[in-house]
Amino acid sequence: MKLWGGRFEKGTSQDVDEFHSSIHFDYRLYRQDILGSIAHAAMLGKQGIISPGEAQTICKGLEEILKDFEEGKIELSAAHEDIHMNIEALLIEKIGQVGKKLHTGRSRNDQIVLDTRMYTREIIHEVIGLLIGLEEQLLELADKHKDTIMPGYTHLQKAQPVTLGHHLMAYFEMFRRDIQRLEDSLKRVDIMPLGSGALAGTTYPLDRQAVARQLGFSVISRNSMDAVAARDFVVEFLSCASIIMMHLSRFCEELILWSTDEFRFVEMDDSYSSGSSIMPQKKNPDVAELIRGKTGRVYGDLISVLTTMKGLPLAYHSDMQEDKEPLFDGMDTVKSCLSIFTGMLKTLKFCPENMLKQASRGFINATDVADYLVLKGIPFRDAHYIVGRLVLYCIHNDKVLDELTLDEYREFSEVFQQDVYEAISLKNCVERRNLPGGPAPSAVTKAVDEGHAWLQEIKSRYKQA
Ligand code: ARG
Repeated sequence: MKLWGGRFEKGTSQDVDEFHSSIHFDYRLYRQDILGSIAHAAMLGKQGIISPGEAQTICKGLEEILKDFEEGKIELSAAHEDIHMNIEALLIEKIGQVGKKLHTGRSRNDQIVLDTRMYTREIIHEVIGLLIGLEEQLLELADKHKDTIMPGYTHLQKAQPVTLGHHLMAYFEMFRRDIQRLEDSLKRVDIMPLGSGALAGTTYPLDRQAVARQLGFSVISRNSMDAVAARDFVVEFLSCASIIMMHLSRFCEELILWSTDEFRFVEMDDSYSSGSSIMPQKKNPDVAELIRGKTGRVYGDLISVLTTMKGLPLAYHSDMQEDKEPLFDGMDTVKSCLSIFTGMLKTLKFCPENMLKQASRGFINATDVADYLVLKGIPFRDAHYIVGRLVLYCIHNDKVLDELTLDEYREFSEVFQQDVYEAISLKNCVERRNLPGGPAPSAVTKAVDEGHAWLQEIKSRYKQA
């Protein structure tokens, strides 16, 4: 018989059991479910709602079940619907009648939110740990390449020279915000919902604060209906995951582009590439492509939960059981992508000579020629025009700015002198962009130092994965 079978005259059909059951995905909440039940039972005993002896028997039974789970000795059944009822049934089987007292003053509606919050809290710590590992890798590479000159692009057209270190530190900043976002979201995950019951709280004198303390929650939920109906913490996790994936995907897109024969800025390690079944020469950046592809999947997880929730009146509905698969999928995907991406980055070979070669073409020091004229007293808008004409002249004569003779320069403006060559050398162009936040090696060194200090502080709070 079902644990809720009293009101029914016949059982559910097997099809319905299977359709309704969530055990094939919510089994992964077993630890959170058992720890939550232990805290609940202990509190029931302390409050005299059940006897201390009964509480002890229940807690001991649950501890044994947890051990059995961890040793792989548990068989779960779809007939018991979900992880909560499977565990309750196992408990009753193990300790007999007294097991039936566990669910006093509790509903699966507050129980599932508790489990999901505890689980999400753990995964957030893991994802932050993985991001820390990625950030360390980026700092190491940025430091190594603080003087490596490369073209910077806008519209995917060569724009101005930057350093590879600076480019990499741009990603450091994105992942820093991802860590901060996750950390901030923890505040809204770290809320203990038990005591909300099905929707309207309970008549038993539960000690909600004691349960929160035992389970390591900072606060208890403030409204029983909101507590069982809210899934914005799920949406928020998936939003954070989606933004992380977007950042990874942009990075992957650059690496894919950079590994083409047209760019040759990087070479992927063989261990992170694969070949073609027909074209013998091919080495494809599959790992980066897959991460880019899986980004769509995580966005899908987010949209799925948002859509599930959008029409639900208060309070609980079975629709909300549909939050688990996208949530777990988003968690698994973002974790595996972060870990594999960091490995790929570690083994990636950068090709500074090709970057420099490309930086020497495409007039990326044109702005610097204009700035040179401004220093000689020409208004910027006029300088812009003069250099535009110079570039056109170069295009027609198949030259770059650095190759023009002084006489050629002076055809366009009398103020050009010998020092123009020095002023527009790539090295100078980069070194002079040394404002805080700029690409100059000196500025990148400062950014890397600041990054290390910040990461140290984060690492004091989270374990690196
Ligand atoms: N398996 C359910 C879920 O994932 C747990 C809560 C079920 N509550 C209920 N009244 N059916 O949301």
